[in-house]
Amino acid sequence: MKIVFCSDPLYPNRPDMSYDDEVKAAQEAGLEYVLIDFEKLTRDEDALSATRRVKAVETPGVAIYRGWMLRPHAYQQLYAALQERGVILINTPQAYQHCHYLPESYHIIAGQTPLTVWLPLPDCLDMQIVRQALAVFGDKPLVLKDYVKSRKHEWAKACYIPAASDRAAVESVIQKFIELQGEELNAGLVFREYVPLQNIGAHSRSGMPLTKEFRLFFLDGKLLYLSEYWPEGSYDGGTPPIEVFEGVAQQVQSRFFTMDVAQRTDGNWIIVELGDAQVAGLPGPNDAPHFYQKLNAQSLSVIS
Ligand SMILES: Nc1ncnc2c1ncn2[C@@H]1O[C@H](COP(=O)(O)OP(=O)(O)O)[C@@H](O)[C@H]1O
Ligand SMILES: [Mg+2]
Repeated sequence: MKIVFCSDPLYPNRPDMSYDDEVKAAQEAGLEYVLIDFEKLTRDEDALSATRRVKAVETPGVAIYRGWMLRPHAYQQLYAALQERGVILINTPQAYQHCHYLPESYHIIAGQTPLTVWLPLPDCLDMQIVRQALAVFGDKPLVLKDYVKSRKHEWAKACYIPAASDRAAVESVIQKFIELQGEELNAGLVFREYVPLQNIGAHSRSGMPLTKEFRLFFLDGKLLYLSEYWPEGSYDGGTPPIEVFEGVAQQVQSRFFTMDVAQRTDGNWIIVELGDAQVAGLPGPNDAPHFYQKLNAQSLSVIS
């Protein structure tokens, strides 16, 4: 099984420095890698040129992309261009979008995740439509994000809404969020009931509240790897109930995805979000060697 990394923007023969730890760990685990040009793929929308350094192989084999997040359209282009060369990304474009866009997989995690409503662009810019959509929350507090990401580090200004019924607060947080996301805004707005999560400190730079959250990587329905989500903050005892989440994982329409889970103040656990595991960061500074060892071991038995 191959890993697909992005090349350094200045030196196309070298991997992007931000992934140095992962490249080293992948090699040490015995995994081969190829490089693609992220800028050519996303900025120039030229998937052919982005993949030109990937050698075509006669016998197609499964590969895993490990790199920056891609819009579904760019992923589709990458998938097709690599497929031409016999390199088959583990997740189809449909599977990628299923976990990348929260609304797509919400029905699968609904029993384990806070109540969520969403509005696509441009409806989400119409405050009357927003108010109607938020009525279901009454005066509960909310968390705002787009289909993919939040501005969690701008928690008070652009993420947390103290009451869904507070028009001024709703409008101000939405406005700030849209302004900060700029070109990065993905597909629409997502509003989620805020639930009190166990606090494990405050982020050293942004001050956002850190919660007891873990990132679970699933490969072919089985837990591959688990990591504490925040490298800072005190995780004392208590890990997530894996059996419960493995049950939900069976329903997710993707071979390789992440499930971020967090513990509520009442002790119960929730799913915070799913993500495509190919574009999900390894949270801890020491995760890479363990992650790639496990990936290689499981790939030998499961992936074909
Ligand atoms: N419904 C919620 N209730 C309470 N806290 C939440 C909720 N959703 C998210 N959070 C907090 O906000 C953070 C960011 O939310 P998340 O959906 O993971 O966005 P991102 O994709 O930007 O990571 C989470 O790590 C968690 O601490
Ligand atoms: Mg998150």
